[in-house]
Amino acid sequence: PSLARTVAKAVTETEAVGAPTSSIDWDNLGFGIQGVAPSMFVATFDTEMGEWSEGGVQPYGPLPMYPSAQVLNYGQAIFEGLKAQRSTRDRIVLFRPTSNAERMQAGAARMSMAAPPEDLFVRGVEAAVRSNASYVPPQGKGSLYLRPLLIGSGPILGVGPAPSYTFIVYAASVGAYFKGGQLSPIDLLVETRPGLGSLAAAKAEGYSDVLYLDAKHDNFLEEVSSCNVFAVYGKTIRTPPLAGTILPGVTRRSVIELARAKGYTVEEAPVSVAEALAADEVFTTGTAVVLCSVGSLTYQGTKQRYGTEGQPGPVALELYEALTGLQQERTEDPFGWVHHV
Ligand code: COI
Repeated sequence: PSLARTVAKAVTETEAVGAPTSSIDWDNLGFGIQGVAPSMFVATFDTEMGEWSEGGVQPYGPLPMYPSAQVLNYGQAIFEGLKAQRSTRDRIVLFRPTSNAERMQAGAARMSMAAPPEDLFVRGVEAAVRSNASYVPPQGKGSLYLRPLLIGSGPILGVGPAPSYTFIVYAASVGAYFKGGQLSPIDLLVETRPGLGSLAAAKAEGYSDVLYLDAKHDNFLEEVSSCNVFAVYGKTIRTPPLAGTILPGVTRRSVIELARAKGYTVEEAPVSVAEALAADEVFTTGTAVVLCSVGSLTYQGTKQRYGTEGQPGPVALELYEALTGLQQERTEDPFGWVHHV
């Protein structure tokens, strides 16, 4: 009997493979580097050879790089973001990873970079998830945020594209992006000038984030620093069009499709700041942000509040439930967006 007790104790003390690690406080996850996971996937591309390496998983850590690396001199770098979650079916799933692969390819073409083919991108993301499976939070407590990076890592002195590229996927356990938690409405400051300086200043004043207006007219909504934006007018929803100046969000596209399936008319059309201030509701979407109701917009010193203080707007809540229902496999996935790892 004592041997049986010892064995039973050993089994309960050993975490099941891939079960959430006990080294993280899952109830107090924010969105930050403190949740960074121990492994990353790395593959390289050499322009002379014209092909990508097989790639593999290695410990998360510094990247060896010469000061002459293209990225450090001329800034060839792009990134993606997607999440792995434990679903209600008790498995780990990704959401539309091939959309991120496609967007990385589009971004790479715009930046004259070699891009990982879709199969390498998805394999890299899956490897980063599998090797960090114990960093995928318990169901409903957050996600493993995957950050695929593509950088011009090879050396160059004169201006030009890098002779070689590095594709990296690192990961971090994350909870809600904004401090108040997922369902708490956010307060946005409307700004005309994008930049990390204005964002930091707005955050220091207590705003959740900054909503930027277009550079040409200082009048039409573009996007928030971390997410896309939508305005609601009854059964019509409007979001700024993709004209090359804002992020073609995977969550943006998904929410447009989900809203249409629920009978809303969704227009991808310019929204002036006056129209946004007059909306029934405003909400934002993004991988990190998921879907957040906007509690207030502050423009030229005046604060416009929406709905009931502290409560998400009803359309935002309906679409949040629809989106996360799919992502966490609480509902059927007629779109084929959920990708089992
Ligand atoms: C994402 O939503 O994945 C992003 O990259 C946004 C960033 C502000 C974390």
